[in-house]
Amino acid sequence: MNIRTIERAYRRYAPGYDLYFGRFLQPGRRATVQCMSCHPGERILEVGVGTGLSLPLYPPETTVYGIDICPEMLARGSARVFREHLEQSAGLCRMNAERMGFADDTFDKVVAMYVVSVAPNPGRMVDEMRRVCKPHGELYFVNHFLHPHPAMAFIERMAAPLSRFLGFHPTLSLQGLVAEASLEVTEKTPVNAFGYWTLLRARNNKQTFRRAAVRTGCSSVARGTAELRAQGATAVAAAQDGSEFSLNPKIVSADDPA
Ligand SMILES: C[S@@+](CC[C@H](N)C(=O)[O-])C[C@H]1O[C@@H](n2cnc3c(N)ncnc32)[C@H](O)[C@@H]1O
Repeated sequence: MNIRTIERAYRRYAPGYDLYFGRFLQPGRRATVQCMSCHPGERILEVGVGTGLSLPLYPPETTVYGIDICPEMLARGSARVFREHLEQSAGLCRMNAERMGFADDTFDKVVAMYVVSVAPNPGRMVDEMRRVCKPHGELYFVNHFLHPHPAMAFIERMAAPLSRFLGFHPTLSLQGLVAEASLEVTEKTPVNAFGYWTLLRARNNKQTFRRAAVRTGCSSVARGTAELRAQGATAVAAAQDGSEFSLNPKIVSADDPA
């Protein structure tokens, strides 16, 4: 799967996403935000924020920055920000989580909910999450991983050829991700129905894995707070197409941030 395949898949999912994956996966989102125990003034980044189903769960004193590659998902997230009066605490931006436009050490906590098995290069995405997170910050993931039971794993492997259509890899293994991304996991909790999904909390061990900053464009924007605009200055400065963060509640374009 590449970034275009993801965009296409989620363009298709967007209209029914909240209906199919809203309530059903909300316990995992809730458990994740609880586990994050966000403090007032903290700056949180949520990658692959989608339609923003998690946004109302964060305490209002935190600032949440949500990025996603799919404009149709972001448009729904944007509507939610308005509907739930979250304008002062949440800002959304179209950006590739594998090549973020944020400066190093920008966020206190970085979270990916149901995204690592969707992203084309999960290892690269985790590298980027680590880079933009402060050295003593934390990374959080909630996701389904390849089932440890052989019979279930067999069924999931059978579904693997459909991953382009499904828009996620049903066979991403937890051990594989932890090893590939050198995650220092401090907590692992089963969540959602039958504990089929896993919540991971990891220390940001970035000193060991500091990478060169990758600054690419944040080319279209759904919504932003004044603070988001300031934080996005780096991204804006580097934006390849010259577009910038907007406080206007609309997606300004759908060009290629990849
Ligand atoms: C299964 S949805 C999860 C959405 C949301 N986090 C939730 O809890 O419902 C996965 C989302 O990740 C986004 N995504 C996948 N790869 C991405 C990437 N490399 N950069 C940004 N967003 C990405 C997709 O567009 C999609 O909206």
